[in-house]
Amino acid sequence: MPPRGSSATTGGTTPERLWIGTSWKMNKLGADARAWADTLTENLSEDVLERVQPFVIPSFTAISPVVQSLGGRSPVLVGAQNAHWEDSGAWTGEISVPQVKDAGASIVEIGHSERRTHFGETIETTRWKVEAAIRHGMRPLLCIGEPEDIKAAGQSAEYILEQAHGALDGLTEPELGKVLIAYEPMWAIGDAGRPPRTEELVEAFAALGNEYDHRVEALLYGGSVTVDNAAQLLSLDHVGGLFVGRTAWDVQGYLELFRIAEAHRRSSADGLS
Ligand code: PGA
Repeated sequence: MPPRGSSATTGGTTPERLWIGTSWKMNKLGADARAWADTLTENLSEDVLERVQPFVIPSFTAISPVVQSLGGRSPVLVGAQNAHWEDSGAWTGEISVPQVKDAGASIVEIGHSERRTHFGETIETTRWKVEAAIRHGMRPLLCIGEPEDIKAAGQSAEYILEQAHGALDGLTEPELGKVLIAYEPMWAIGDAGRPPRTEELVEAFAALGNEYDHRVEALLYGGSVTVDNAAQLLSLDHVGGLFVGRTAWDVQGYLELFRIAEAHRRSSADGLS
């Protein structure tokens, strides 16, 4: 089994392993979280782990239970859905990067569109949070994505590049190499979203690939990923993994995505040899 926290990819279009992760958003109590993690652990095989890097981002209260259930040497990385840019202080109701790290997280999700829309996250605060994550040796997972009207105006690429540059431009190349970017168009996310047609994503990934291939750890796609569209989404140029909500909240759905990713990586490797 690859050791926990090992670098999974060389970056760019052909990462060694596909990153397949889920955020639970504001779902699951402790017992459900532990059961999910237990079932995942029971079903991980070395074969799959050669080709897939799993990660899970529970609610804050479930980080420790999930880390404990997975066990100290688990190859499954655990993240937090948000963290403040300051290390400590008078910020009632917030949680800091050292605190989520202390709970066992190694990834910090930053700038999900639900946080930008409902909680005032801005490009500036995403930059501060990326810097805080890097400062503490954590892996930032920066979420970017355009709303429907920007897509309709044909400005998706410009919009998401502004979000990415605004959050990442201050980083050195080695720091940038730790970053995961999840492109999650707002029109595709959640119950109100619709599954994308792959051709709708080509331009955005071309723009992101042009800037960030071989520079960040991986570019992920997120938004209405299902077991039916996962293989197609993984076939898109520049896509190095998937970031999933609803489909993966049931661990069986997550495991199915795993199998799809493993088969995809296996067949693309065969195609190369
Ligand atoms: P979804 O959520 O897969 O349920 O659309 C994706 C996300 O918000 O990251």
